[in-house]
Amino acid sequence: MIKKCLFPVAGYGTRFLPATKSMPKEMLPVVNKPLVQYGVEEAIEAGMTTCAMVTGRGKRAITDHFDISYELEHQISGSGKEAYLEGIRGVLEKGIFTQVRQREMKGLGHAILTGEPLIGNEPFGVLLSDDLCMNNGSGVLSQMVQLFKQFRCSIVAIQEVPEDETHKYGVIRGESLSNGVYRVDEMVEKPDPKDAPSNLAIIGRYILTPDIFDILRVTKPGANGEIQITDALQTQAQNGCVMAYKFKGRRFDCGSVPGFVEATNFIYENYYLPK
Ligand code: G1P
Repeated sequence: MIKKCLFPVAGYGTRFLPATKSMPKEMLPVVNKPLVQYGVEEAIEAGMTTCAMVTGRGKRAITDHFDISYELEHQISGSGKEAYLEGIRGVLEKGIFTQVRQREMKGLGHAILTGEPLIGNEPFGVLLSDDLCMNNGSGVLSQMVQLFKQFRCSIVAIQEVPEDETHKYGVIRGESLSNGVYRVDEMVEKPDPKDAPSNLAIIGRYILTPDIFDILRVTKPGANGEIQITDALQTQAQNGCVMAYKFKGRRFDCGSVPGFVEATNFIYENYYLPK
């Protein structure tokens, strides 16, 4: 029902320098798979088979990753090594990959607006690959699609965070309905703990209705001088409806070195080692 997912992948990955000097942070491997591929697999599992990448300079490795490597295919075709390509082949068979370049880094809201030509006038997913989410049942986007069927408005994924960490996130306040679903009253980008409306933080999964683009066009720079999706969603919440959803699963902050190492160990132990 929602066919497209936007991947803002233009960021610099400063926290991983020097590793990310000439290589996109989204291509850093968590065990043997690049971070962005986990996100793409989650989107495809949710039925979002068009993966729309908002890239930037120095990000060609991402585009190449989601394409055939003719030389490699040719070299290992028919050999025992072919099995290693199966994972990515499955993704390429199911997915369509489109892209646009974000020329200036003006914030997540700006990145999403840059992706408008790839989305058009339909509801869509947004996945921030830094937030790696793992669970044994349906992925987070899949869970959110089920909710979208019911509410037909924008949805953000949330989780509780320690109160002294609210300044890293968009934070919501809302009326709790049932099963981890909230109707959002207020949302603030990166509030100081003393100003935070709760400890319910937005995690990098969104379903957005396309009216968000018109709102983003007139959204002024907010926190850090950037155009924030959180501010545009606050407008949507005031004028209509935005839901927040406490998803099932475990999230790793792969935008930080400790979170990345934690994810690596978890995936190595739970998914890579033979059971
Ligand atoms: C972005 C969003 C923020 C959200 C976070 C989740 O921030 O602006 O609202 O909580 O992703 O990871 P960033 O991490 O890009 O600074």
